[in-house]
Amino acid sequence: MNILLLGSGGRESALAWKIAQSKLVDKLFIAPGNGGTGAYGINVALSPLDFEAVAKFVADNGVEMLVVGNEDPLVAGITDYFREHIPSLLVVGPEKGGAMLEGSKDFAKQFMVENNIPTARYRSFTLDTLEEGYRFLEELKAPYVLKADGLAAGKGVLIIDSLDEARRELKEMLSGMFGASSATVVIEEFLKGIECSVFVLTDGHGGYRILPVAKDYKRIGEGDTGLNTGGMGAVSPVPFADDVFMAKVEERIVKPTVEGLVSRGIDYRGFIFLGLIEVGGEPMVIEYNVRMGDPETEAVMLRIDSDLVELMKGAASGCLGDIPLKIDPRTAVTVMLVSGGYPGSYAKGLEITVGELGDTIAFHAGTAMADGRLLTAGGRVMALSSYGDASATGADAIRSALERSYNAAGAVEFDGKYFRRDIGRDLMALSN
Ligand code: AMP
Ligand code: GLY
Repeated sequence: MNILLLGSGGRESALAWKIAQSKLVDKLFIAPGNGGTGAYGINVALSPLDFEAVAKFVADNGVEMLVVGNEDPLVAGITDYFREHIPSLLVVGPEKGGAMLEGSKDFAKQFMVENNIPTARYRSFTLDTLEEGYRFLEELKAPYVLKADGLAAGKGVLIIDSLDEARRELKEMLSGMFGASSATVVIEEFLKGIECSVFVLTDGHGGYRILPVAKDYKRIGEGDTGLNTGGMGAVSPVPFADDVFMAKVEERIVKPTVEGLVSRGIDYRGFIFLGLIEVGGEPMVIEYNVRMGDPETEAVMLRIDSDLVELMKGAASGCLGDIPLKIDPRTAVTVMLVSGGYPGSYAKGLEITVGELGDTIAFHAGTAMADGRLLTAGGRVMALSSYGDASATGADAIRSALERSYNAAGAVEFDGKYFRRDIGRDLMALSN
């Protein structure tokens, strides 16, 4: 079949790499793709938010499956659009009602409370209820967690130490700091623990598969310092997310989420990203996303042994049935190379040279090809993903995988190149 994948990041590179390995695929198109996705399929200059243009491309090119990589088109209703206009198209990604799990933090919290899913205590406020918001802040202990209800390009969460500042920021947010997305603000209890990302593929009818768990590294600086980024690296599996922990995740979070969607009448066919935190051995939900994680996908795809297209086809047609999900036991890591200055301002259009990468896979993110030259085109430039030694376990497996990715990081050059040298270090310390 012909498949159209929407997006242009490292996540889409990893999805394209995996999709291209499937025997079920005739042609893979990536829109708009990046400087590396041409290795797996055909890049198409289309905006994922221009549904009419996407529909015309689908019709003209015999596309049978649409895989939506990022959240924006989902929250904007691309799945609903195609269910109405081209009902035969298989769409991987939830309808608008399901995309609300990411599109509205207030909705996500209500959903969790309704379904008894463990999460931080919270309340939501608008400008009309500002005074109540101040009182709720006084009930909580520092640090204070303030979240813009809507999509804010990963910038809508503030964690603040002082009560005075939290009050000020609450007012600012409600007065339009993040535009319409912070017209409602969720205030919640701060949870202390270590985070991990769990990915679920579900078929809208109660069927699901749990993909390999990963941990990402969000801050720009080593030792988890500095500003938040889209993600600087990832490791899968996560030693603390052992069988006992994952059994709790499945019973207390995955099943009630999947069943809660069905009972709300939401036909959710696609990936659910559970941002989890372990608090005293117990998993709690920090957030839902309605897509795969980036850069987690650049590690997780290496660990899926089965045909991802067969799984996605099952999910998108409403029946995962007994389609197998086999997981590669090896550890996989990814290290993100970023532009100097990121996540602040940075230069684009710098030439990239790629030397000997060994067994490492380079998933392009912010890159572009221009006249046969590879150039930087974004903050996160390239994710370097490697397997660990098959015979190693725990910290040794992570270390051997990182050694490969860090060697490869030395072989990719562009002005201002930066990467964190401590990816996985916390997990290696925990598993010693
Ligand atoms: P979110 O966009 O909801 O994932 O929040 C971004 C980041 O803020 C999360 O990955 C956590 O590191 C942190 N965070 C969010 N909510 C909480 C919370 N209730 N307690 C502690 N940290 C949080
Ligand atoms: N790695 C976090 C995210 O994709 O949102």
